[in-house]
Amino acid sequence: MINRVTVLPVAMEQSLSDRQYRLWSDMLETRTGVEIARDRQDFVRGQISRRIRELEVEDPDSYFRDVLETVDGVREWGLLLDRLLIKETRFFRHGPSFEYLHKRLLRAADSGMPTAMSLWSAGCSTGEEAYSLAITADRVLSRAGLRPSFGVIGTDICRGALEFAREGIYFRNVLPDSTPGLLSDHLEPLDKHRFQISSRMRRRVCFLADNLLASEQSRFADRVDVIFCQNVLVYFKRWRRRQIISRLMSHLKIGGCLLLAPGEMSDWTPSGARRDPEPDVLAYIRTE
Ligand SMILES: C[S@@+](CC[C@H](N)C(=O)[O-])C[C@H]1O[C@@H](n2cnc3c(N)ncnc32)[C@H](O)[C@@H]1O
Repeated sequence: MINRVTVLPVAMEQSLSDRQYRLWSDMLETRTGVEIARDRQDFVRGQISRRIRELEVEDPDSYFRDVLETVDGVREWGLLLDRLLIKETRFFRHGPSFEYLHKRLLRAADSGMPTAMSLWSAGCSTGEEAYSLAITADRVLSRAGLRPSFGVIGTDICRGALEFAREGIYFRNVLPDSTPGLLSDHLEPLDKHRFQISSRMRRRVCFLADNLLASEQSRFADRVDVIFCQNVLVYFKRWRRRQIISRLMSHLKIGGCLLLAPGEMSDWTPSGARRDPEPDVLAYIRTE
């Protein structure tokens, strides 16, 4: 069981040996797919050592076993994930991908929209990407004079990030300069420094915990029109990227598209898909 024991004198504080660090980094990769880059190793080692000190655990090996094997360990693992994974994100982060989405939705609207559109932000972190998808869809569909009928799913492995996302409360300084109108139509000021995504937009977005390594079980996301999975696979080994891309493609409708961030996969196209030659974006269209 993960519990507190007597406080250790500073000199006896535990820090991770190389062997222990490898156990943790292997577990992180096996469970999430994320490989720790060389320049983040000290950070990760420091975070785990800090947690061991916070809990006043005497034996790092027993802490590792507890996290791995016990029921308590599931909660502890969630807390560690919140600290260890990179959650950096922004509204409308990769401009060309959102312009591409905008054009696709416009084309769909012009040629008789499907009755309902579904969009998925896979690896959504604190929600900015999912709300950016919702805001883009709302804008295109309203301007086309169509009653907007769409839903966005945001999924992530980090429950802390998802809680934050559901609240939809952000500081003003995270707003992109280039799209003030776009966002300000969907914001409700809370105080001098913070705003909340409008309840109308929040009702469009549903945040769920999901591990991309196990996404074949994600039955909530079948027959999706658009998937954004950006700045997630970049931390994964290449063979895992291929596996996850193929799985994500299987959640799309025929003609639906998956947008990665440029550079996250090169020289490879999943079967049953084609790469859109559009410059500056990395988009796969499901063909069969
Ligand atoms: C750098 S953020 C990217 C956020 C957003 N997609 C963007 O481009 O701004 C990467 C996110 O991927 C999530 N993540 C990492 N491994 C995951 C996995 N196996 N399943 C689901 N989410 C994962 C992390 O928790 C983190 O929130």
